[in-house]
Amino acid sequence: MSVLYVIVLCIFFSYAAADTPANCTYEDIRGVWNFYEGERSGSNDIDCTNFDGPIVNTLKIELLFPNVAVDELGNKGYWTIVYNQGFEVVINYRKFFAFSKYTDDGHGNVTSYCDSILAGWSHDVLGKNWACYTGKKVAPTSGIKVHYEKRLVEGAIFRQDKNFIRQINKVQKSWVATAYPELEGLPVATILNRNGGIKSRIHRSPKIGFGASEVSKSLLSRWPEQFDWRDVNGVNYVSPVRNQGSCGSCFAFSSMGMLESRLRIATNNSVQVTFAPQDVVSCSEYSQGCEGGFPYLVAGKYAQDFGVVPEDCNPYTGKDGKCSEKECKRYYVADYKYIGGFYGACNEDLMKLELVANGPIVVSFEVYPDFQQYKGGIYHYTGLQSGFNPFLITNHAVLAVGYGTEPKTGEKFWIVKNSWGEGWGENGFFRIRRGTDECNIESIAVAAKIIP
Ligand SMILES: *[C@@H]1O[C@H](CO)[C@@H](O)[C@H](O)[C@H]1NC(C)=O
Ligand SMILES: *[C@@H]1O[C@H](CO)[C@@H](O)[C@H](O)[C@H]1NC(C)=O
Ligand SMILES: *[C@@H]1O[C@H](CO)[C@@H](O)[C@H](O)[C@H]1NC(C)=O
Repeated sequence: MSVLYVIVLCIFFSYAAADTPANCTYEDIRGVWNFYEGERSGSNDIDCTNFDGPIVNTLKIELLFPNVAVDELGNKGYWTIVYNQGFEVVINYRKFFAFSKYTDDGHGNVTSYCDSILAGWSHDVLGKNWACYTGKKVAPTSGIKVHYEKRLVEGAIFRQDKNFIRQINKVQKSWVATAYPELEGLPVATILNRNGGIKSRIHRSPKIGFGASEVSKSLLSRWPEQFDWRDVNGVNYVSPVRNQGSCGSCFAFSSMGMLESRLRIATNNSVQVTFAPQDVVSCSEYSQGCEGGFPYLVAGKYAQDFGVVPEDCNPYTGKDGKCSEKECKRYYVADYKYIGGFYGACNEDLMKLELVANGPIVVSFEVYPDFQQYKGGIYHYTGLQSGFNPFLITNHAVLAVGYGTEPKTGEKFWIVKNSWGEGWGENGFFRIRRGTDECNIESIAVAAKIIP
């Protein structure tokens, strides 16, 4: 098999630049905040890392259910939490994003201070007049939360478990499991990075379901029963499957994959660019390099604020590295969103509407050990555990390119592009059960509109 792994043995236990371990929920964030903002005179190269004033503006903003933000003068905007990592507010034509505050003592003791933020970035909706800001929640106050990050025993090695694979194939007939010999002997840490990185565990989103509106219901009644961007009247709009190797960069591959595909769709396939995940891994402050990140902040926010570059500008190394200074053409997105408008509002119908209308969408799901062994069919979690391998549930970002229904069984599925090479699964793709929020896959879909 042509799967090439770049094995980096040491990265796993250095937590210096980890995917943030903050774990703040919607209820922790909702309420009244004061933002303390510095001078609005910077550009996107502003460094907010150690922002310490001077404070020029103090803004009092109330974050209301479900996604309404209101300032002291009554101006309205909107907001969303970004997974459990932080939150973005758009009000008075300015965008504010910051990660929630946390400390990590390096030994697994993590404290989230959900009523505070790390210094964040604000700018107007045209991407101008950047400033740094900090913030403090005024009411209701949320306490600190301490949790312990489970760490793996250093040096754990992955072993194929034949009995595990046999069991998977015995208990169900929807999908088939197989051994992948090339995984044998890899550090378990590498396998987990491939699955999204151990810090990418997120709690289930609050489900704020409003159900489908009348408009979307009437649209859906005329929507295709099945759809596949790899074959729209014989034309393929999906760029080739790639391999992320051992870097926890699935969020960058899935994000670039969406932009590549949507650029093809927007240009009738006449512009076929491969975008560089390495640029995101090495340069984005909205994500944590090979230790993880989240598509909303990459396909969305990074692509809007900084743009993405073609692969040959910053070829993939699969490692963290210094940001390349090379000047290249950058592509930007005009708009980005969680499907449903904010985190918590996603559902199957809205995903189908967005996917067919505008192109593939980035989705994330919980990876359990059986998924590793997927060879083909319609995946669902079997509940089985491997007897050999220590395991942590991670959150893996991938690209949904279509959907359908199995004629014989009536089982509905999504068609999804992975970033584990073409030798994995169904030529690099997999299908997963649709309509039941399997492994959380219908809860955090992201879409962005690329400017061709
Ligand atoms: C994050 O917080 C939620 C809700 O408070 C909790 O259920 C979940 O276990 C937490 N996750 C971690 C990794 O501590
Ligand atoms: C964990 O970290 C918090 C905050 O830094 C601290 O108050 C607490 O004592 C620590 N607990 C342990 C067991 O180290
Ligand atoms: C799109 O491309 C196809 C194949 O090159 C071509 O036949 C078709 O006319 C194009 N459509 C438009 C609207 O240009």
